[in-house]
Amino acid sequence: MSKQKGRGAFTRRSFLAATGQAGAIAGLSHLFPSSFAASAFAIAAQTTATIKGKERLIVRSLRPEDLETPVALLNSFITPNDLFYVRHHLYAPRTEAAGWKLDVSGEVERPGAITLDEIRRLPRATTTVTLECAGNGRAFFDPPVAGIQWEKGAVGTARWTGARLSDVLKKFGVKSAAKYVVLDGADKSFAKIPDFIRNVPVAKALHPDTVIAYEMNGEPIPPLHGFPLRAIIPGWEGAYSVKWLARIELLDREHDGFFVKTAYKYPTKRIAPGAAVDPKDMAPLTGLVVKSLITAPLDNSTVKPGAVKIEGFAWAGESDIVRVDVSLDGGATWREAALGREREKYTWRGFSHEFRITEPGHYTLMARAADALGNVQPVEAMWNPSGYLWNVIDRVRINVEAA
Ligand code: MTE
Repeated sequence: MSKQKGRGAFTRRSFLAATGQAGAIAGLSHLFPSSFAASAFAIAAQTTATIKGKERLIVRSLRPEDLETPVALLNSFITPNDLFYVRHHLYAPRTEAAGWKLDVSGEVERPGAITLDEIRRLPRATTTVTLECAGNGRAFFDPPVAGIQWEKGAVGTARWTGARLSDVLKKFGVKSAAKYVVLDGADKSFAKIPDFIRNVPVAKALHPDTVIAYEMNGEPIPPLHGFPLRAIIPGWEGAYSVKWLARIELLDREHDGFFVKTAYKYPTKRIAPGAAVDPKDMAPLTGLVVKSLITAPLDNSTVKPGAVKIEGFAWAGESDIVRVDVSLDGGATWREAALGREREKYTWRGFSHEFRITEPGHYTLMARAADALGNVQPVEAMWNPSGYLWNVIDRVRINVEAA
């Protein structure tokens, strides 16, 4: 489904824009094979309005809010809350701390609920995490893939503080039959969009770094990021980190809802670009893949001759970045970049290298990251129907002016 196709359906498009449903459907359009979804996609991609408190972000969809951070602003190890990208499928619910409770049911000894205050009284745990939407980079797939057309900025790093999910679950007694922990936010299904419910295998849920957060970078989690409670599933693609967390259920099997059974799946074997994939050849996404982002110089910028510093971040989900190579000549030759001192288990790592450029002209700068498991960023992305996990060697074009 391409952008062009969607431009025909004017009546439906204006209806969707007026009712605010365009953005929601656009976010899932890669999973709804109809011109209805394509038309919603077209309108959502064109808006120029801004969202209060997030004025500096790029609006990919106005309602529900899908907001991307411009690469120029991703220049600090911790991404400030007002610059952090936003992704949701449904309308953000109105939430209040007073009276908030988390229901826990299913394969537990003592089903019941825990209040926000009780969660706050559990030992505090902070996990610093680079969170990235699985669809970050979707705009670069060829042939194009429908869905929110994220470019490079659906990623950011924050310190998430709360209680360990394992400490919360201990209160209810996890039965040995439990295999998956279902995470359900307070956002509600509307129009044709199913309820956003995800599940995480018990081993990952009980890992000490998995938290139910109530603070983001030292402040109560802002409403768009899941106030008052959200799950943080470190190193895994962003959709596991369910916002406005209101209900947990332990199951002896995978949840059978749309956002587990159909969405967030990736082909298990290489497929031809544009080809359909049999659902039996798809597996759930889990960890983020090795990736780099050049944050300076910016794409299409003009710089003076002399010292030109290439900078950015590289990350690899649950794995560590061990090396980043950079190139000045479109990948013909490479230099090893210096890695930043700031690092935590699930975060990106800064990299930098200073080139000397004396000749004016156009240059293609590249960054290629490698992780501790031996994975290296590919030259070409593996095309997949939903446009997930774009992690091609990053590149920017610069113009070096005459002295
Ligand atoms: N949680 C709920 N309840 N509803 C959602 O639509 N979107 C998920 C996840 N948690 C979502 C959600 C997706 S797809 C991503 S990438 C992250 O939240 C984005 O988190 P952020 O908006 O705080 O950046």
